[in-house]
Amino acid sequence: MSNVLRQAVELTYQAELDALKAEDHGHKPANWSLSPRAVVTYLMGGKTADGTDISAKYIGHRRLIETAVATLATDRALLLLGVPGTAKSWVSEHLAAAICGDSTRVIQCTAGTDENQIRYGWNYAQLLAHGPSREALVPTPLFRAMESGTLCRLEELTRMGSDVQDTLITVLSEKMLPIPELNDVVYAQRGFNIIATANNRDKGVNELSSALKRRFNVVVLPLPDDFNEEVEIIARRVAEMGSSLELPVPANARDEIEKVVTIFRELRGGETLDGKVALKTPTGNLSTAEAIAVMVGGLSQASWFGDGRFSALDISSNLIGAIVKDPVQDKAVLEEYLETVLKKRREFADYYHTINDVL
Ligand SMILES: Nc1ncnc2c1ncn2[C@@H]1O[C@H](COP(=O)(O)OP(=O)(O)OP(=O)(O)O)[C@@H](O)[C@H]1O
Ligand SMILES: [Mg+2]
Repeated sequence: MSNVLRQAVELTYQAELDALKAEDHGHKPANWSLSPRAVVTYLMGGKTADGTDISAKYIGHRRLIETAVATLATDRALLLLGVPGTAKSWVSEHLAAAICGDSTRVIQCTAGTDENQIRYGWNYAQLLAHGPSREALVPTPLFRAMESGTLCRLEELTRMGSDVQDTLITVLSEKMLPIPELNDVVYAQRGFNIIATANNRDKGVNELSSALKRRFNVVVLPLPDDFNEEVEIIARRVAEMGSSLELPVPANARDEIEKVVTIFRELRGGETLDGKVALKTPTGNLSTAEAIAVMVGGLSQASWFGDGRFSALDISSNLIGAIVKDPVQDKAVLEEYLETVLKKRREFADYYHTINDVL
């Protein structure tokens, strides 16, 4: 096992990518490592002709991934939009890995991101010693992606200021980046494109200017459709993370995941799953990603401090952490949920008691 805490996905899933490449004789867009069909198989899962299993990276509608892949094969950029924890970053990373074999050209956009982090910067020692030159120029991931005809990922696009976002307009419409200091221009090579992610729920995000919006095809990643789909996503990720943390996944994992998903979906949806009781919703968004984090936290607690089986105690404190984001308002919501719903369900008795104790 590698000592790196988290490898780039193209290394983790190298065997799958190699197997797909070996049988992929389809027509490919310029500079793509796989054909669009094979990219979709890589994301949605399947089996290659030689019998290699391709695990499903994204669980959801195939059409969404097809649209995303088809967009990247055109001259329009891709924007993955959705509420937090709907696998936007995850899908973007896997798309980049499958299409150009490199998911690491990524710019994390923040309120402090400036133009130099998007276009290029300067090595000031070089700049002062020798004046502006290509050697003194520090390329950004976007610059490198343009030069090499590969994909650049922009994480949380709407977190950076609108003026900085608009730097992308020239890149996206003219497919080139002027370097006025050198009286030079970088032309994007075939295969270059951008995958951006943005969530429309968080505080502190900036509007995407309409000029920029027009240059992106937007694919909205939804929350999982139904209960079983969400359980499946969580079970899969917990198993994967368990193996990378070298923690055995307890035999009762699925039962406990189902309970956590029930609690999450009821609180998120504002009513019990049978639709009979209306509930107040907490301020947080209780995403699938948070449910995964609750289960992985519980897994660690069960393995290091428990008897290796998931118990309500292992999960409850993580669960409270995910639900109670506002100590006053959310606490009241959770207390009401405990009393009106969980107290009456026999299979949730342990949760009712432990959450009440910890709360
Ligand atoms: N439909 C899904 N299929 C597979 N995995 C999913 C799905 N939804 C969520 N996940 C899992 O959720 C985790 C978090 O996803 P990710 O970090 O990509 O979310 P995000 O949409 O980028 O959220 P944020 O807006 O907070 O950045 C990933 O581990 C991913 O595997
Ligand atoms: Mg993300």
